[in-house]
Amino acid sequence: MSKKPFYITTPIYYPSGNPHIGHCYTTVACDSIARYKRMQGYDVMFLTGTDEHGLKIEQKAAEAGVTPKEYVDGIVEKFKKLWSYMNISYDRYIRTTDDYHIESVQKIFKALYDKGYIYKGEYSGKYCTPCESFWTDSQLDENGCCPECHRPVKYAKEEAYFFKMSPFADRIEKLLTETDYLRPKTRAVELVNNFIKPGLEDLCVSRTTFKWGVPVSFDDKHVVYVWIDALSNYITALGYENGKYNEFSKYWPANVHMVAKDIMRFHAIIWPAMLMALELPLPEHLAVHGWITMNGEKMSKSLGNVVDPFVLGERYGQDAIRYHILREMALGADSLFSNEIMINRINSDLANGFGNLVSRTVAMVDKYFGGTLPTERKSAPLDDEFRAAVTGLLPEVDKYIDETKIKQALEEIFKVVDRANKYIDETEPWKLGKDDSQKARLAAVLYNLLESIRIISALLAPFMPTTMPKVWEQIGASAEDVKYENLGKFDVLPANVTVHKGEILFPRIDVDKEIDELNDILRKNMEAAQAKLSAEEKGEEAAAPIELAPEITIDDFAKVEIRVAKVVACEKVKKSDKLLCLQLDDGMGGRQVVSGIAQYYAPEDLIGKKLQLIANLKPVKLRGVDSNGMICAADTPDGVKVIFVDDSIPVGSKVR
Ligand code: MSP
Repeated sequence: MSKKPFYITTPIYYPSGNPHIGHCYTTVACDSIARYKRMQGYDVMFLTGTDEHGLKIEQKAAEAGVTPKEYVDGIVEKFKKLWSYMNISYDRYIRTTDDYHIESVQKIFKALYDKGYIYKGEYSGKYCTPCESFWTDSQLDENGCCPECHRPVKYAKEEAYFFKMSPFADRIEKLLTETDYLRPKTRAVELVNNFIKPGLEDLCVSRTTFKWGVPVSFDDKHVVYVWIDALSNYITALGYENGKYNEFSKYWPANVHMVAKDIMRFHAIIWPAMLMALELPLPEHLAVHGWITMNGEKMSKSLGNVVDPFVLGERYGQDAIRYHILREMALGADSLFSNEIMINRINSDLANGFGNLVSRTVAMVDKYFGGTLPTERKSAPLDDEFRAAVTGLLPEVDKYIDETKIKQALEEIFKVVDRANKYIDETEPWKLGKDDSQKARLAAVLYNLLESIRIISALLAPFMPTTMPKVWEQIGASAEDVKYENLGKFDVLPANVTVHKGEILFPRIDVDKEIDELNDILRKNMEAAQAKLSAEEKGEEAAAPIELAPEITIDDFAKVEIRVAKVVACEKVKKSDKLLCLQLDDGMGGRQVVSGIAQYYAPEDLIGKKLQLIANLKPVKLRGVDSNGMICAADTPDGVKVIFVDDSIPVGSKVR
């Protein structure tokens, strides 16, 4: 019988800045579960995407001088590039600016309005513009600022539509306390006490103060405000209320929505309320994890403490990064990011633990049997316990994956890695190798080790998808050998298996050297990110690092003759948008210069002005017009600016 399809989602990310390691956690975690489920034979739909509307995006785009769509397009590219770099195997990528999503959101909003769950009212409170959130006084931080980004909030009031949530309070409380929806369930208490018990407040679901959003179809002064637009993605991506896809009945309800704790409330209360109002089935599980923190705060662009996954990936490989973040984060709790923890983890688990197990085993098969095991093997009682430990792994990992406990799944796998390394110590194959009468015993030990590596590596593949196929190559395992059906038993590799020594899977890292170097790189990156951020806050372009041309001598410079000249006439060059033709008084009888500044100056802006002329530049023709020299101008974030000189300086004066 074929299995029920499996549907897993990440949150849709705000494309308001470069993605960082903090964004990677949920996506890598969902990717690992999606891969695991595919390995188990499920038809998987793994959805991710971007949440592209809102005031913040509108403002950022305006600062950058582009349309909101152009702005998000650029950043969505960066997200997709990161996901491909981290080997994220999503099946669908939804953008809330996609037409089909917009169509569905408008229909969902209208349906909720028609059913009487959405009504018009007025919103007031303390508003944080960068976070696009209203906060109550008690939620503000100790300085009366936004509790998320710690920036000032301001009082705001506006006409808005509201979503009535109170009719669903009882059902939601039961969902959180009596079912396995919320994971970890311990978080239900805070939700019930903070939001349900005091009476579920209606949710503001429209805005009139900005335009960059899905228009309310029956009241175009309003755009749909974030959560109805964003949360609906989980169903619109399957084709709910649109003609783009037809997979709603196949994949809905979702098996797992995975989110971090800051958006738990929206997924634990608002999303179920929306689905109840729409009379749709509820998702099976909401898995909530903590934040990747750095120096005690959530890693976040607005705090400027982000770590660039590309920098880490280039140094240690994507799989090591995937492993590290998955291994450190327990469901529900925060995890600390530090270079020391990461490097020590890579060294202990991947280089010394698993990598060493593979390289030692393959090297011994090579050394003692020329790479191919003999078929004659002699078992010992010790083997049974070892085999049982390895074959017992599969149900354990299955169970933890079903409970969305990835850290625990990895811990189980690495217990067996340790067990296998211990089996080497117990059986002492180097001693058996010296004794010809022990060849059959040695073959059995090495075969058992290869089998353990086959099972361990297949179970690790969803978490580290790039490295494990290299392991299979080394231990001589075929695609068939590492299929899910073969992971609960031994004696799958051919009795006369041939190994192939290969590259070191996870090179050991020199901790002291690496920590200094890495801290330095990350510090510089963070300083650059913070400088960019404060420049953005001041509405400035961040200063790009300045790279100088190669050094020249004073003699080189003396070859350039710069003279002061005055513009006496100026006109546009015909059939050119870019060129202006200037007539200059250069104190030497006059000359004509063509300059590519028509986009920045009208001819009349220049007439009568004095400027600097490169007077000994070889003449050229531009668009058929003679140009004798060049005028000096600066490239600025606001375009090209001519360097004008003081009117008191006579024409013809030499600049040096
Ligand atoms: N757009 C909303 C989600 C809408 S889902 C219907 C949003 N976007 S976000 O880009 O700000 O965050 C997306 C997810 O990334 C959230 O779960 C957020 O907590 C998570 N993370 C962002 N920084 C993180 C860390 N430093 N650590 C772990 N997760 C982090 O919220």
